[in-house]
Amino acid sequence: MAKLVDGKRISQEIKDELKAEVADLAQQGKTASLAVIQVGGDPASSVYVRNKKNACAYIGIGSESYELPEETTEEELLALIQELNQKEEVHGILVQLPLPAHIDEEKVILAIDPSKDVDGFHPQSAGALMIGSKGFLPCTPAGVIQLLKRSGVEMEGKNCVIVGRSNIVGKPMAMLMLRENATVTVAHSRTKNLKELCKQADILIVAIGKPKFITEEYVKEGAVVIDVGIHRLEGKKLCGDVDFDVVEPLASAITPVPGGVGPMTIAMLMNNCVETMR
Ligand code: GUN
Repeated sequence: MAKLVDGKRISQEIKDELKAEVADLAQQGKTASLAVIQVGGDPASSVYVRNKKNACAYIGIGSESYELPEETTEEELLALIQELNQKEEVHGILVQLPLPAHIDEEKVILAIDPSKDVDGFHPQSAGALMIGSKGFLPCTPAGVIQLLKRSGVEMEGKNCVIVGRSNIVGKPMAMLMLRENATVTVAHSRTKNLKELCKQADILIVAIGKPKFITEEYVKEGAVVIDVGIHRLEGKKLCGDVDFDVVEPLASAITPVPGGVGPMTIAMLMNNCVETMR
């Protein structure tokens, strides 16, 4: 039986620590406020945006939201970002992704002032992570590190296989695991002998975006398995990239979906917002 890595509990612990810190910082006259921009009405994005605003309210950070229509032009969005870059009362700017197809995501991310890039997506933040200098960390991979640390998982010297190479999860995850002195392999959909490779992992982190892709054939006995995926199956049940029922008996520790990595992303976003006050 694997130990369940409880992201709900750990994210709550982090939010409570941040709430206490924000109260202390407020005594010194410091405040923070997050601007959240959503373009269009994608239902999943609306849920994420609402959760982010609720988390801000919980820990004592201000938030303002901009819910723009689907037809918003790239120029209009870039103009809003410029305005928020200038606005002193706004400390963090988050543009919920994905954006409608007529807007160039890269241009939008590049427009955000790196000092307000609480998502950690700006090339300056990505570069800082690469060379180990100070900068905002992308929230999901930073959340995985916190899950591992706070569950007592040793990373130094361990074989870590990351399945997925996105800019938001796989690549920054590799940098963060390197920082923890793990030996890191990044695998992806074109990797040969993926099963054998994954089977060598002491820590297997999966962000491949395919429901229940990782079965018992990919997992070494006693491995720690972190599932970054989230999918809604027919019948509305949620599942991850890992087939939990068949992998759990093999693993020493595993994240559930929901309640694993998901809640950590928002907790780490809140940490980045508080970082603007420290
Ligand atoms: N869409 C899915 N995940 C994220 C995230 O972490 N940040 C933003 N801005 N958009 C997302």
